Amino acid sequence: MNNKASVSIDMEKLKDEPWHFPRDFLWGSATAAYQVEGHCTNNNWYRFESALDEQGRPRILNGQRAGICCDHWNLYKEDIKLMQALSLNAYRFSVEWSKIEPEQGKYDEAALDHYEDVVDELVKSGIEPMITLHHFTDPIWFEGQGAFLREDSPEIFAGFVAKVVRRLGAKVKLWGTINEPTVYAMQGYLKGHFPPALKAPDKVGIVLRNLLRAHTAAYQRIKEVAPAAQVGLVAAIVHYEPARRWHIIDVLAARAFNRSLNEMHLEYLVDGVFKFSIPGARQVVFDSGVREAFDFVGLNYYTRLFQGFRLFGDERYREVVKALPERLTDMRWEIYPEGLYRALKMIARYTSKPVYVTENGLADDSDTKRAAFIEDHLRVLNRAVGEGMNVKGYFYWSLLDNFEWAFGFTKRFGLYHVDFTTRERTLRAGGLKYPEIILKSRG
Ligand code: FCB
Repeated sequence: MNNKASVSIDMEKLKDEPWHFPRDFLWGSATAAYQVEGHCTNNNWYRFESALDEQGRPRILNGQRAGICCDHWNLYKEDIKLMQALSLNAYRFSVEWSKIEPEQGKYDEAALDHYEDVVDELVKSGIEPMITLHHFTDPIWFEGQGAFLREDSPEIFAGFVAKVVRRLGAKVKLWGTINEPTVYAMQGYLKGHFPPALKAPDKVGIVLRNLLRAHTAAYQRIKEVAPAAQVGLVAAIVHYEPARRWHIIDVLAARAFNRSLNEMHLEYLVDGVFKFSIPGARQVVFDSGVREAFDFVGLNYYTRLFQGFRLFGDERYREVVKALPERLTDMRWEIYPEGLYRALKMIARYTSKPVYVTENGLADDSDTKRAAFIEDHLRVLNRAVGEGMNVKGYFYWSLLDNFEWAFGFTKRFGLYHVDFTTRERTLRAGGLKYPEIILKSRG
């Protein structure tokens, strides 16, 4: 379904609108363990750092390695102060499965102590924690078993989840189960940019299905252990438009991508039915028999893509960049704030349960686009909230510059600049726009 026609926003007019955000709105930033903590030596990405692609090039750009990264593992107290300095009242972060369960069934209590300390420090500082249980990385032992290709992967994952929630469930209300299942599945099993770097059209739908089953299994376990917990799936919504508007193949491909990689999340959450059908990959249909296994939707929104598809050849999925350079971030992602509104509208067609914008931000090393990006997206969000959409929080990606997966340290998303030799954090001028709006909206 394409609701684009019904959605058009005059960005100029938005500037005159009063702020509608409620007082208890969560204003946060987001990170993920492997991207900021450092000292991750037991997960599939650590192995990927030393792997080579088919041409013999390192898998991570420039052969970079996460190493001690931002050393958020040790510097989290300092980083929580940096959040306070920006008037933030929420923080979304992930716990690293490979640190907590280094061998299957063997838990490292010291790692759990660490995360409990982080939670305590946040709560003490007036910052609400939201924990992501799976953010792209898998323990090496789990990867060795086939990871989410396994039929029993949801139960394996839920065992880890139960352990974490038993420890932290009394202190943490908000839980995200799986971060961006479509990105994990597509990048790891179809496009080959994430581990295990497969181009396996017969497997991608299976992995995606099992990630969603893992969400449901996790949801059920969390509710057993901590009935008051609020649990959501974190979906990446990217609007797909045909690369060539006049070309039936691209039109159909974009439509299939929108259905199978966007609306699919909502259909699964609401009805328990999973349908994956994109050109060039094996179709997978599955009915979990479990409806409404979610309390909120986590929305990661960055951009739209112009999707092309070729019937033959190696590079069958081809994205075309159409925006002018001034509308592009360092990721070459188009700055498209209206898309945030479209994504929220799409979600609202399926459910009125709360939505958290769990990620939104940009890579902008020159810091020339950050302030306007933040302002425009928050203006759009303000419109949605003003229209009564049930949005309860916004998390900017990211607090700090960090390790951007296969791009290594080359993409800088931080409100704070990080010097990766000294670990020094410095607030960017563009980042100041965020607290400025938070404070204005609080009145
Ligand atoms: C999202 C990921 C996050 C970060 C941003 C830029 O897809 O969830 O870890 O890499 O993109």
